[in-house]
Amino acid sequence: MNKIIVKGGKKLRGEIGIDGAKNSVLPILAATILNGGENVIKNCPMFKDVEVILDILRSIGCKVKVEGNVAIIDSSTITSTFVPEDLATEMRSSIILMGPILAREGKVTISYPGGCEIGPRPIDLHLKALRSLGAKINDTNGGYISCETDGLKGCEIYLDYPSVGATENVMIAAVYAEGETVIRNAAKEPEIIDLQNFLKKIGAKVTGAGSSVIRIKGYEKKLTNVEHTIIPDRIIAGTYMVAAAMTGGNVVLKNIIPEHIISIASVLRDVGCQINFKQNDVQIIAGPRLNAVEVIRTLPYPGFPTDMQAQLMAILTLCKGTSIIIETIFESRYKHVDDLLKMGANIRIDGRMAVIKGVEQLYGAQVVSRDLRGGAALILAGLAAKGETIITGLEHVDRGYYKVEEKLSLLGADIIRI
Ligand code: UD1
Repeated sequence: MNKIIVKGGKKLRGEIGIDGAKNSVLPILAATILNGGENVIKNCPMFKDVEVILDILRSIGCKVKVEGNVAIIDSSTITSTFVPEDLATEMRSSIILMGPILAREGKVTISYPGGCEIGPRPIDLHLKALRSLGAKINDTNGGYISCETDGLKGCEIYLDYPSVGATENVMIAAVYAEGETVIRNAAKEPEIIDLQNFLKKIGAKVTGAGSSVIRIKGYEKKLTNVEHTIIPDRIIAGTYMVAAAMTGGNVVLKNIIPEHIISIASVLRDVGCQINFKQNDVQIIAGPRLNAVEVIRTLPYPGFPTDMQAQLMAILTLCKGTSIIIETIFESRYKHVDDLLKMGANIRIDGRMAVIKGVEQLYGAQVVSRDLRGGAALILAGLAAKGETIITGLEHVDRGYYKVEEKLSLLGADIIRI
């Protein structure tokens, strides 16, 4: 079994670059199905989830080549509209393939994604929106969703919640719909803007991404070869910012987009760190002491991201005073708490609220990563803890961080994977 061993107490120092964003590359790779041409995707991070979506693209007939951090997808021939269960369930967001395959081929059958480590992952908003576009959907098909259409038609869609995945699925599907589609109460995450930029390159007329109203004008199917560079991952950047802050470090992260990490920087400043932005770099200088924060709520962008909640909790365990986190996005996203308690943290969970009383010291322990960001939080705790922390369950961490131990070693951490 793969495990990471961290000997805590090293102050992180130095510079590292930030990989491309997982949440950007997944919908963009899905959208490469649309154009029937060659798509050159640069700054493509090679996380486990990316390998899985590339395997799915291969399984439906795309020709995929990977050269370093460039993925080349030729979608001229689609030979299947079926996404099998073994591949779909390996990647939580496989539902994002529904819109593009349906739009391109007029039908798709995909395994129901089911629940996941951070609680139920309903897809009702995706299905409702695709139905509005004219898809006929059978979602009681033995764990599979079958969907077909004899032509999608643009329409007004109001999302009851600004779901990131549903916004992306509709944006992609609507590219091949007749007439205009308007998505209201759309998600505003930076990854939606990246998707819009990609769709524009393949010839789609999309405007409004980053605001709550997105307009997509349907277009004629045509061959277009495109090149696109994925934006940097704001959650990975946030994770390394916390690593620097928790270890008394002084670290520069290169290739970030300052605007995307403002909410994270703001909380770390409240905790007592100095955060300096310089063009596309950010420097994190840990404060002499870490202070508790009053209440942090996870919110849709530009609010504090749920994907940083676990990592924030890791640092708050060492902040003087009592901090409160309220997780408003996902129902069951506190699976890292038991392991933080094992390391000496003082945390009480009451429904969606976590009350964290800062302690003087965390202590190394054997812990298990139970989800992607929770696993990252345990590595962070291990960096600051006294003694040795052994983390297993790395298959979760590898879904969204590429060789995390190598990046942290570059910053001077005492960390190995065996
Ligand atoms: C995306 C991100 C994930 C992040 C999340 C919230 C990707 C690949 N993943 O996930 O890292 O944590 O945004 O920022 O981009 N919901 C429904 N019905 C639906 C869809 C969603 O009720 O049909 C609910 C979810 O249960 C959740 C909330 O809406 O409570 C937000 O989910 P959503 O924004 O869709 O997240 P994802 O796109 O799955």
